[in-house]
Amino acid sequence: MKAWYDFFSLSYDASVAHLYDEARQAAVEAMRLAPGQTVLDAPCGTGLSFPFLAEGLGHDGHILGADLSTGMLKRARKKADGLTGVQVELLQGDLLALAPGLPEVDAIQIFLGLTAMDHHEQVVRALWDRLRPGGRFVIVDVHADKLSLQGRMVQFTARANLRRTPWTTLQALAPDFTREALASSWQVGGQLYCASGTKPADA
Ligand SMILES: C[S@@+](CC[C@H](N)C(=O)[O-])C[C@H]1O[C@@H](n2cnc3c(N)ncnc32)[C@H](O)[C@@H]1O
Repeated sequence: MKAWYDFFSLSYDASVAHLYDEARQAAVEAMRLAPGQTVLDAPCGTGLSFPFLAEGLGHDGHILGADLSTGMLKRARKKADGLTGVQVELLQGDLLALAPGLPEVDAIQIFLGLTAMDHHEQVVRALWDRLRPGGRFVIVDVHADKLSLQGRMVQFTARANLRRTPWTTLQALAPDFTREALASSWQVGGQLYCASGTKPADA
C-alpha cells in the first residue's frame, strides 16, 4: 500500500486539486477551530487541507499531519513551509500504530482516509482516544452503495472501498453525531459527506 501511495503522490495534486475545496472548508467549519489550537489531519496526504486548516486556526496554532506515504509527506512538507503563523509537524506511519504516541489534540479530521483502510474502525477508536474532551472529530469521505464506472476508477486509484460506512464508529462514540451530504461532482465517484461529533466531557 505504501509503495502505491508513494507512486500516487506524483500525480495526486494534479488529479484532485480543487475538487474537494468546498468539502475541505466544510470540514474546517465542522471542527470549529479556534486560534492557538492543535488539529490532527490524518491522513494528511500532500497537505491539500493545510491552507484551509491554517485559515480556520486564524494562522495561529498547530497542525499535526500524519500519513503512511513518504512521497505524500514530502509534498506536504513543501506546502507546510509555505504557510505563515501555524506550526506543522509531520509524522510517517500507519495511523493505528501512530495513535498511542500522539499528543492530546483539540480537533481531528480524517479526510478521504477511512475508505482506504481495512482497520478503519480501530483507527477511529484509537484517534478518538487522542481527542480532548469537548474536542471535535470530523470525517469527510465518499460513499457509494452502487458503484458507477467512475466510482470503480476512484476505488482503483485511491485503493479504497467506497461501500464502507466508517461513520458508524463515530456515531457510536459521539452523542451529538451528525452526518450531512456535501455537494459532490461526478468525479468523486459517489456521495461526499461530512460526519462529525463532539467528545463528551466525561468520556
Ligand atoms: C486519498 S488520499 C487522501 C489524502 C488527504 N487526506 C487529502 O484529503 O488529500 C489517502 C491517504 O491515506 C494514506 N493512508 C492510507 N492508509 C493509511 C494508513 N493505514 N495510515 C496512514 N495513512 C494511510 C495514503 O498514504 C494517502 O495519502
